[in-house]
Amino acid sequence: MAKKTVLSASTTTGDLTLGNFIGAIHNWTQMQEEYSCYYMVADLHSLTVYQDPKELHQRCLSFYAQYLACGLDPQKNVIFLQSHVKEHAELCWALNCITPMGALNRMTQFKEKSQKTREINNGLYSYPVLMAADILLYQADLVPVGEDQKQHLELTRDLAESFNNKYGKAFKIPEPFIGKKGARVMSLQDPTKKMSKSDENPKNFISIIDSPKQITKKIKAAVTDSDPDAKIEYDLKNKEGLANLMTIYSVLSGDSFEKIEKDFEGKMYGHFKVALAELVCSSFQPVQESYAQLMADEAHLVSLMKANAERARERAQITLKDVYSKLGLVL
Ligand code: TYM
Repeated sequence: MAKKTVLSASTTTGDLTLGNFIGAIHNWTQMQEEYSCYYMVADLHSLTVYQDPKELHQRCLSFYAQYLACGLDPQKNVIFLQSHVKEHAELCWALNCITPMGALNRMTQFKEKSQKTREINNGLYSYPVLMAADILLYQADLVPVGEDQKQHLELTRDLAESFNNKYGKAFKIPEPFIGKKGARVMSLQDPTKKMSKSDENPKNFISIIDSPKQITKKIKAAVTDSDPDAKIEYDLKNKEGLANLMTIYSVLSGDSFEKIEKDFEGKMYGHFKVALAELVCSSFQPVQESYAQLMADEAHLVSLMKANAERARERAQITLKDVYSKLGLVL
């Protein structure tokens, strides 16, 4: 039986965080054995807010290296830059023309982002349509994402169904794949909001390329609660900060919450934070070593990107051609 197809991506803002790693990339690496996977660096998506061109150029290389350093294999998977496959922008336009504005008005991420941005552009508004194009071009069966992308996935499914009904079946209807644990890693300083790589305060997030010293400092300063016993127990309602730290520990170690509670019985928050910092540092050590090696050979990175983009285009062109033909365009 043919392998099922997986597609996922991350936008090139900041550096990948522990949230991206736990909510998404951790699952991507596990899926590469079983599925036919497309992992994309969403550089076009990052243009929805101003990017310094020199920094963006560097960040695209850095993101590609971060993907590989996390264990994604460019021989087993297709790992590419969105801007290298022009079919994304083309399918996005066709989908834009069947997207009701009412659906985009309901996108919570747009509402949140537009509140923080003074200049709201059309790209930010139609961002989920480009995301739908990314997914539908490859006829993805599964899309491994964190919880924050769920609504965008629902829109993708609606657009695919709407196109299929109007013009004939061109798209597979993709399913989101959201991990049971760690689908929403929270900010270290404010556990009521999501850990975000574009957060202005670096204390709120851990980047996968933060030094061990920075990681330890940030975890030690993470907000917990004022339980006088400082008991290590998973209680999402009353101990949000600790629950977040325990989730990170659980995903990285593979230990259940019960095991963590048992192992840290009678210990204080400070003790748990030291253990967590050691676990995060040791988990990221091989990633950071591999990242440094990859970044030292830019020519090799670029040649991998180009070869992978060719493989992505081969698949993308088939879908786009079918869509254009169904729309009645002259091929
Ligand atoms: P991005 O770059 O914000 O995040 C990349 C992935 O990481 C997940 N994630 C988190 N998971 C758990 N806890 C967190 N705090 C956390 N923060 C982020 C996200 O859910 C995502 O899975 N629009 C997308 C990128 C994109 C995409 C796509 C994704 C573009 N095209 C096609 C899937 C399919 C984004 O900005 O993700």
